[in-house]
Amino acid sequence: MTLTIGVDVGGTKVAGGVVDDTGTVLVQTRRDTPADDVAKTRDVIIELVGELAAGRTIEAVGIGAAGWIDASRSTVLFAPNLAWRDEPLQEYVSTAVGLPVIVENDGNVAAWAEFRYGAARDADDSMIMFTIGTGVGGGIVLGGDLMRGAHGIAAELGHMLAVPDGHQCGCGRLGCIEQYASGSALVRFARAGARQEPDRATALLALAGGEVEAITGPMVTAAAQGGDPISAEAFAQIGRWLGTSLADMAQILDPQTLVVGGGVIDAGDLLLGPTRRSYLDALAQRGRLPVAEVLPAELGNSAGVIGAADLARRI
Ligand code: BGC
Ligand code: NA
Ligand code: ZN
Repeated sequence: MTLTIGVDVGGTKVAGGVVDDTGTVLVQTRRDTPADDVAKTRDVIIELVGELAAGRTIEAVGIGAAGWIDASRSTVLFAPNLAWRDEPLQEYVSTAVGLPVIVENDGNVAAWAEFRYGAARDADDSMIMFTIGTGVGGGIVLGGDLMRGAHGIAAELGHMLAVPDGHQCGCGRLGCIEQYASGSALVRFARAGARQEPDRATALLALAGGEVEAITGPMVTAAAQGGDPISAEAFAQIGRWLGTSLADMAQILDPQTLVVGGGVIDAGDLLLGPTRRSYLDALAQRGRLPVAEVLPAELGNSAGVIGAADLARRI
């Protein structure tokens, strides 16, 4: 049995795990992502890999990172929600830990994990995944392989245009779907609702100690599950936006399966119900043509670790 390490670097957490060749995570550990500090983030990754590799024979390391990665899977070119600009992450980590390292986009690694071991494991050819977190990420598998594009930066699904001249996106443009279907958008919608109609957000406001600005994503999920109207509507709003993007992608690539992942899917049908309705509504010739189902991700917050480790196995 050979072991690889997968690391998932997100906006709030760095997670790492030792994974075997059946996609099973043997040990897992996590740290907070140092805010806006590139050098410290790099150190946290190196420390975490060192800790996981100690006393084990590890073949390689895969790192999933929330940004555009170059074609050689070495450098984070740009990250809308992290401080990375042309960060040669592979070189740093590989030199420090003495193992082969690949860097891959976080949405791509999550999609790969769900394709191999999760919600899309029955698909043998194609799937598209949207990951809903601080940003909106994506991954595309076609012909059984991850689609990386000519320059390594394919499947940036979060930066499709949703609203011309809409909200400012971290990528520099206005109106990307990331600004309407992300966890950050969920919080923005819930805060706006609570400000306008506090009487319909009493449960949510209670969780936030009465402070609209203190509302967080997990509070919106908990309140929505308890029947708070404004919180449920915030999920319906991001679901409606997400559904239109799923339909666009299905019409372009006609995959076997569509998967939605990220912390927000804890809300279950509160998110997936509106998402599926809007997806079906947005399809041309709705009801006449065969369409891919929209499934919730199954691997939760281990998807990044499992996918990155599995890709490292294939270096
Ligand atoms: C970034 C992607 C990333 C996604 C999810 C987006 O803003 O552009 O590279 O996959 O967020 O983290
Ligand atoms: Na991607
Ligand atoms: Zn954008």
